Amino acid sequence: MKLLWAIIFSACFSSLTAQNFFDPQITTLLNPALKPFYFGVASGDPQQSQVIIWTKVWSDAEQTIPVKWEIATDTAMQNIVGRGEVKTTSASAYTVKVLVKDLQPGTTYFYRFQTRTVYSPIGRTKTAPVQTRHLRFAVVSCCNYEHGYFNAYRLIANRNDVDAVIHLGDYIYEYGNRPNKKHPNVRDHIPNHEILNLNDYRTRYAQYRLDPDLQEAHRLHPFITVWDDHEFANDSYKEGAKNHQSDEGNWEERKAIAKKAYFEWMPITDNAEESVVRKLNYGNLAELYMLDTRIEERCVQLINVFDTLRSCTTRTILGRKQTDWLIAGIDSSSARWKLIGNQVVFSELDAHSLGKSRAFNTDAWDGYPEERKEILDSFYRHDVKNVIILTGDIHLSWAFDLVQEPKNKKRYNAKTGQGVIGAEFVTPSVSSNGIGEKFPRGFANLVGLVLKRKTTNPHLRFQNLVDHGFVMLDLNEDRVNATWHLLNTVRKRDLKASSKDSWSTKYNANKLVKEK
Ligand SMILES: [Fe+2]
Repeated sequence: MKLLWAIIFSACFSSLTAQNFFDPQITTLLNPALKPFYFGVASGDPQQSQVIIWTKVWSDAEQTIPVKWEIATDTAMQNIVGRGEVKTTSASAYTVKVLVKDLQPGTTYFYRFQTRTVYSPIGRTKTAPVQTRHLRFAVVSCCNYEHGYFNAYRLIANRNDVDAVIHLGDYIYEYGNRPNKKHPNVRDHIPNHEILNLNDYRTRYAQYRLDPDLQEAHRLHPFITVWDDHEFANDSYKEGAKNHQSDEGNWEERKAIAKKAYFEWMPITDNAEESVVRKLNYGNLAELYMLDTRIEERCVQLINVFDTLRSCTTRTILGRKQTDWLIAGIDSSSARWKLIGNQVVFSELDAHSLGKSRAFNTDAWDGYPEERKEILDSFYRHDVKNVIILTGDIHLSWAFDLVQEPKNKKRYNAKTGQGVIGAEFVTPSVSSNGIGEKFPRGFANLVGLVLKRKTTNPHLRFQNLVDHGFVMLDLNEDRVNATWHLLNTVRKRDLKASSKDSWSTKYNANKLVKEK
């Protein structure tokens, strides 16, 4: 890996200095009032005694920049409980990431950075609790900048009751400008071509991070993030991606570049493996397992749903190490709720009614059924319940009773909830086009109803295929509730949203019930 980086760095930096690693169009988006902290501040991976804080400084010359940081318990930054100084250089695109330690659990903190005499905006963050009776997470995914405004991020930023934002990936999209006649884009990507090299990926993150709604969500809440495919290229897997062609360079190099940019720009814990797989401990009430179903070990997706390889036990989406880690962790967990942050739909979904060739989504866990079976077998064998899977990727809203063999009446009774060991909540896209943009709304609604038929998918309890927004997940000792906040529009800045779709699962009973 070190040799690979030497090659990439010499190619990227030999003739470049300062901020020249961005496409020059980025400067048109800068707010002069924020100089040199144009990209705001962010925090992430909250634990009981530590949290990551992040910023980026703008430098007009190639140099080493000292950056001071401080963290306090008050908004006036008077009761300082930690401070320090770090240095940043062009090697990290002048991003700054600090792991702040020795904090108190379940506590709100305020932090800021300083270069010379200039302060950054003050950020707010919160550590994870040891003992708590209540948690609330905003769950988001799929945020295509061209397709819409980030109204969902602004709604989340406006709330004061969020412990953390769980981001399930597609934080950026790799495409260039892709004009859409039917649904014209509301704004254009920078650069205007598909991102391939390190400068491209950095520019794309810079553009997204200059969106004021995303920037404010980062400033006010800690994020817990994983990547999906578009942080690399569409429908990616370990050894390639549908949207990576041989004339676009070496996949391993592109993957390494995309990972480097991700770790530079996201407030995520750095680690030698550059892995996003990790567990976050929310005390007695919840544990959160963040998965990588994309890059770490996933086998190539099957093109043909009838391919007999589908049931091959060697086909993997997590890989042996991650599967063992997940099973061992959840089987032995003493947390009341076991949350899994996951990219692609876990539950079985029979889509035969949409045409034989679309019977299953081979990009989701349905393309890797043997590994799913191994995980569920273990949960049932160890009498594990209260598992909540959080899913993004597919740009629609679904709620499933978490069951094995949903059409086997001996194993699952939709009325009584027999056989249910948890729930899967699928969050809609923040802005990315979905079925609602592809087809007239009435037709999309019809597709949703066909999929939800009891004879087809009895465990699918709620569906909305057309709206954008996010899920607010609310946990206490007795139940987990998911409320879908579905936006009026993403085609303009508009904060109107419906929150009438709200489903709960009770502790140990688990069957999903609609809230009135
Ligand atoms: Fe997506």
